[in-house]
Amino acid sequence: MALLHPKSIVILDFGGQYAHLIGNRIRRLGAFSEIHEPEIRAEDLKDAAAIILSGGPQSVYDPKSPKADPKIFELGIPILGICYGHQWMAQVLGGEVQEGTMKEYGYSEIRATEGSDGLFKGLKSEFTVWMNHGDKVTRLPKGFIVTATSDVCEIAAMADDKRKFFSVQFHPEVTHTEHGMEILQHFIDFCAPARWELENVLDHLEEEIRKEVGDRNVFILVSGGVDSTVAFTLLNRTLGTERVYGLLIDHGLMRKGEIHEIADSFAEHGFMNLHIEDASAIFLEKLKEVTDPEEKRKIIGDTFIEVQEEVAKRLGLDGSNWMLGQGTIYPDTIETGGTKHADQIKTHHNRVDAIQRMIEEGKVIEPLKELYKDEVRAIGEKLGLPHHLVWRHPFPGPGLGVRILCAKKPTPLSKKEESEITVASKIYVFQVLPILSVGVQGDNRSYKHPLAVFLQKPFSDLRSIHGLATAIPNTHKQINRVLICTSHQKVPEFSFTPTLITRDMADTLRDADHIVHREMREEGLEEKIWQFPVVLIPIGINEGGRSIVLRPVESQEAMTANAFHLSEKFLIRITKKLLELEGIDMVFYDVTNKPPATIEWE
Ligand code: XMP
Repeated sequence: MALLHPKSIVILDFGGQYAHLIGNRIRRLGAFSEIHEPEIRAEDLKDAAAIILSGGPQSVYDPKSPKADPKIFELGIPILGICYGHQWMAQVLGGEVQEGTMKEYGYSEIRATEGSDGLFKGLKSEFTVWMNHGDKVTRLPKGFIVTATSDVCEIAAMADDKRKFFSVQFHPEVTHTEHGMEILQHFIDFCAPARWELENVLDHLEEEIRKEVGDRNVFILVSGGVDSTVAFTLLNRTLGTERVYGLLIDHGLMRKGEIHEIADSFAEHGFMNLHIEDASAIFLEKLKEVTDPEEKRKIIGDTFIEVQEEVAKRLGLDGSNWMLGQGTIYPDTIETGGTKHADQIKTHHNRVDAIQRMIEEGKVIEPLKELYKDEVRAIGEKLGLPHHLVWRHPFPGPGLGVRILCAKKPTPLSKKEESEITVASKIYVFQVLPILSVGVQGDNRSYKHPLAVFLQKPFSDLRSIHGLATAIPNTHKQINRVLICTSHQKVPEFSFTPTLITRDMADTLRDADHIVHREMREEGLEEKIWQFPVVLIPIGINEGGRSIVLRPVESQEAMTANAFHLSEKFLIRITKKLLELEGIDMVFYDVTNKPPATIEWE
């Protein structure tokens, strides 16, 4: 496969969660980036400005692990290896990689060694980075020097300055890494890449839409979220309102008052080509017995298609001259194993089987599928969409469906496993909750327990608990989230209330979500917090009681996220209001980063 652009920086995607994040960062630094499968032939890369080898979930020793063409090292262009890319580069060029005895997920300190004036030029000699690996490089290939070390990795970074080959065990592309952008900029300084400017992107997107759609029309699902709003607006602008038709399906799992807000704001912008379909009864009926998160996602995704097909037929929008439009963006396509080597973390509703088939048949248009959220927002602003729409928090397609944690019975840890969990402290006690939620560790999906921390003194030492939220899942393999209980100081006698998706459950969560978002806006936090899921869990104290989990995060593209630090005052206020809701016994604050937890619980 040929390059999209000569002189682009090519990222070879070994299947890491962050491969596209690297692409996004490179573009933000103004260089053209494109992603390819690692199997691409070296000769097809001869016009690239540079190559970046991404991370990946496998071990280089796994016979099935992805490999690139070793001839890329003969092209005479700069190459940067990251994580798995670092290890693969070391192995192929004659160094050695060994299985690490200690897995390293999360923050780590590295020390740049003297003479490392390549990637780390001008940076302080010690800084914090983000690690996500088990194996490590233990012997340098010929011609390389060590450029950084950490406590766990003697070769945390290496370089062959003469050939402009660099590699790092950590992830410079995630915001958790201090100086990450500078490190990538230093790499870019070694190449002469084609420029990437948002100015030209809009023209490029319009051209692509015209080419893909031809003389057909587009029927697009809108949710009111930023992505589908921008996609709908862009299609309207490119093709004209008479060739575009929007469908808003109410699955009964939207937020309070949301449907009307969306319809009103589109009407304000002259988009009257929108149909609202109340399909809540159909969705709730299909979900009424389902507890497995992936099954829920599949059912919601498939039902979207069924309803959309039925409505299309009813409205006469289903002929061969109609295509289905979606507001899919890059991250939505990655976390499904959409890139060949990625592990499946969660199925996004816009990538279920029925849609995949339509994509293969050329019946789907996704004008934003190569952009990241920040780029989509910038395009939205350029299209003149109002600020509040462009900066709305993202809301997942399956809606509150993945925020009601469903279970018919508790899933406790065994006594033995529980006794192995030790966190020494006088200021808090902790309890593993008998429920499971989805997370992501080392590029793989996890489905594990949350650990709830009860503070003896209200909100004392919140900071150290934020630190624990990284340390605990690293050392305890049964845990992928850490929560602080904001309503209770002692571990209560828990009750478990079987929970399934019903209209009542959705209403309870809708009310809780409404309170949280109203308070958040009043506190002036809406633009500081990237997303603030509110989750209902089947654990309470009283018979029939349940609890609410607050999950505020700061992030840039949802690929990684940090728990947002809420103030004590705000936590107290919001907790009090939530406890006034009927059937809500406790409130928790999820302080886990992504990884090891995902943003959503399911
Ligand atoms: P996770 O939970 O994987 O979420 O860290 C990353 C981002 O994706 C959103 N999300 C979805 N968005 N359809 C969507 O349109 C989905 O099925 C879906 N699942 C998760 C999530 O809200 C977060 O912003």
